[in-house]
Amino acid sequence: MYSNIRAAVAGSINMDIILNMQRVPDVGENVLGTSYGYACGGKGANQAVGLARLGAKTKLIGKVAADANGEKLLVNLRKNNIDISDISTEGTQSGMAAIIIDGEGKNRIVVYEGANAEIIPAQAAECIDENIDLLLVQFETKEEVVIECVNRAISKGITTVIDCGPAKQFSLEKMQGATILSPNESETKALTGISPDDDVSIRKASEVLFERSKARYIVLKLGSRGCSVFDGENLRIMPAYESKVVDTTAAGDCFTAAMALEFLRSGDIYAACDMGNKAGSIAVSRMGAESSMPTAKELIDF
Ligand code: ATP
Ligand code: RIB
Repeated sequence: MYSNIRAAVAGSINMDIILNMQRVPDVGENVLGTSYGYACGGKGANQAVGLARLGAKTKLIGKVAADANGEKLLVNLRKNNIDISDISTEGTQSGMAAIIIDGEGKNRIVVYEGANAEIIPAQAAECIDENIDLLLVQFETKEEVVIECVNRAISKGITTVIDCGPAKQFSLEKMQGATILSPNESETKALTGISPDDDVSIRKASEVLFERSKARYIVLKLGSRGCSVFDGENLRIMPAYESKVVDTTAAGDCFTAAMALEFLRSGDIYAACDMGNKAGSIAVSRMGAESSMPTAKELIDF
């Protein structure tokens, strides 16, 4: 379905340590975990896996270290058919995320940036050329990296999708004119000061983001409520598909990858967000980050 799309992701690569528990501890409290495991993650890597699993020819631009985790992360990316030739191994320590998941499938994440914070903006941007149809970025690398990559892609007429995770303040004004800007609820609050709780606040926050970023579309990911699309005039809320939630980790990464590819294929933002909602609902029904990303067949059969 998406095999003729050439995609690049500029973003983070982390080793995730995942701990499951019924209830997260309060300050000073110990609780018993129910299971734990390691998984390859990082928002950049997750979105690259999401794109590749849906059939797009995908490369990842990023950085790890020449350490044990770096090696495992690269092996995993290669196994997922991702071109790793633009990943530097010269970082001091590979990125790491500690993810704790409660009995309701809700997560809390602590990220140690490591090599992800050592990506050199100009070097990353240089990897974006005419052989790319789509660029995906997130906010899990330094702001300058995101800005240089996005501006380079925009100047080359490449479809550019900005996933605003994790939540932080960001100089959106320095990268105006992307195709889609897509924060989740907490990221929307961090960027605008507005919680997207109802139709009025969703519109208000979308207007602020539209004005600041001059992106063509503002797509808010609204968790179990689905997503919203704003084009500068019209606002449409698109409800989520029902799902039995096991673990919400990387639902946003999965949504963004599917939405971006469907937008490139169809040019229809509503079809794209519908695909994102389908992919997100599959992701929350499965444990893990990359392991929860659906294939193109699973999306078609949905
Ligand atoms: P994460 O940070 O955990 O990766 P996120 O907070 O960036 O995720 P969400 O808004 O939670 O992203 O979820 C992304 C998409 O996944 C939603 O827009 C929706 O389509 C789908 N989704 C999330 N939660 C649910 C749910 N409980 N039921 C069905 N679909 C869901
Ligand atoms: O979005 C999920 C990702 O956030 C995890 O894989 C973890 O590495 C953190 O970066």
